[in-house]
Amino acid sequence: MMFSRRRMLQGALGAVGLVVAGTGWRAVDQGVFSAWEGAAYEPWRDWQGTAGARALVDAAILAASAHNTQPWAFAVRPDRIDLYADGARNLGTMDPFRRELHISLGCALENLCLSATAEGLRPAVTLAPDQAAGHAARVDLTPTPAATSALYDAIPRRHTDRGAYTDRPVEADRLTGLAALAEPGVAVRWLVDDGDRRTFANETIAATEAIIADREQSADSHRWFRHDWDAVQRDRDGVTLDASGNGRFKLAVAKVLPASDEGTNNGYFLAGTRDTQTRAPAFGLLAVRDPASMAGRLAVGRTWQRIHLAAVAAGLAAQPLNQLMERADREAQLGLAPRFTPVLKPYTGDHTAIFAFRLGHPSGNAHPSPRRSGAAVIR
Ligand SMILES: Cc1cc2nc3c(=O)[nH]c(=O)nc-3n(C[C@H](O)[C@H](O)[C@H](O)COP(=O)(O)O)c2cc1C
Repeated sequence: MMFSRRRMLQGALGAVGLVVAGTGWRAVDQGVFSAWEGAAYEPWRDWQGTAGARALVDAAILAASAHNTQPWAFAVRPDRIDLYADGARNLGTMDPFRRELHISLGCALENLCLSATAEGLRPAVTLAPDQAAGHAARVDLTPTPAATSALYDAIPRRHTDRGAYTDRPVEADRLTGLAALAEPGVAVRWLVDDGDRRTFANETIAATEAIIADREQSADSHRWFRHDWDAVQRDRDGVTLDASGNGRFKLAVAKVLPASDEGTNNGYFLAGTRDTQTRAPAFGLLAVRDPASMAGRLAVGRTWQRIHLAAVAAGLAAQPLNQLMERADREAQLGLAPRFTPVLKPYTGDHTAIFAFRLGHPSGNAHPSPRRSGAAVIR
């Protein structure tokens, strides 16, 4: 009896040991202890390792992009850089008119120009020289005294913050200063009153539900989600668990569990939107007169990148929130009754909002997401 009880105990301990060892191995395998390390994150550390025109590309690739698609390609000469859309890296029905793709290119263009000045090159930008060919910008470079800036210095610290923000309001002067960074033709609208913020939050949650209920949009969004650590290191793109805004413990559990399917992911997406990401002291809208113009979208991208860099330099956190626009585009694509298209109209007058975000004071740290190297995106 004694013997078999001991054997049972040994067996049970052995099983627990195996589970612990297995979980430990999975934790190591899934990068629980090596988050933000490895080749996929090297571009954040090495971004100042090159010189001249090439250095501009290494700064550009650290910019924001929709779902971290990084839809860019560069042709580099000492006196000129051409920026092209990589049309294959699109979000499908999540971005049927490539609005977000073009805004993403504008984000890269802004980092590129900030880096040019730091490298002693004055950038002269021609927007959308050949939209049909996906030629987004030509940047001619001429020598000038090198000068860095607070925005340039913030490039490696700018990360989309999907965690909770505190209730502390953002000072009105700060909002005015951020709005003043807008490119010509881009209107910045702040939603800070309780009623406006509630409207934005409720409608964004409703738009999230509509995206999840739309099988094609849900699948196109899920395609860019990278759960597996090997996929993160191989593809070096997409939205990762590490960038989800979850605390360390929740993150470790999520990583150890098997990769979540589309339905489970959608559940997290909705819960995160409802419980965390629609709570902020300020929401912002970036609006243009012609929402279809590539030049206008690039200007919005430049403006967003600039606002986010300035916000980070001031100790603030920010996150784009574009579900309303994603649904508005989808309504136009399918000829659906305009449920979400009119929601932001009262705030933008004769302009149309093509990008939205939240802003506040962080309660934790935002972390980097993977990047393909500069060398990989030069034609
Ligand atoms: C046009 C555009 C739209 C975006 N929309 C969203 C969004 O709706 N929700 C979100 O959490 N992040 C959004 N993002 C942020 C990207 O997911 C983020 O930039 C990307 O994953 C890279 O991460 P990083 O900004 O931390 O470098 C958007 C970014 C851009 C440029």
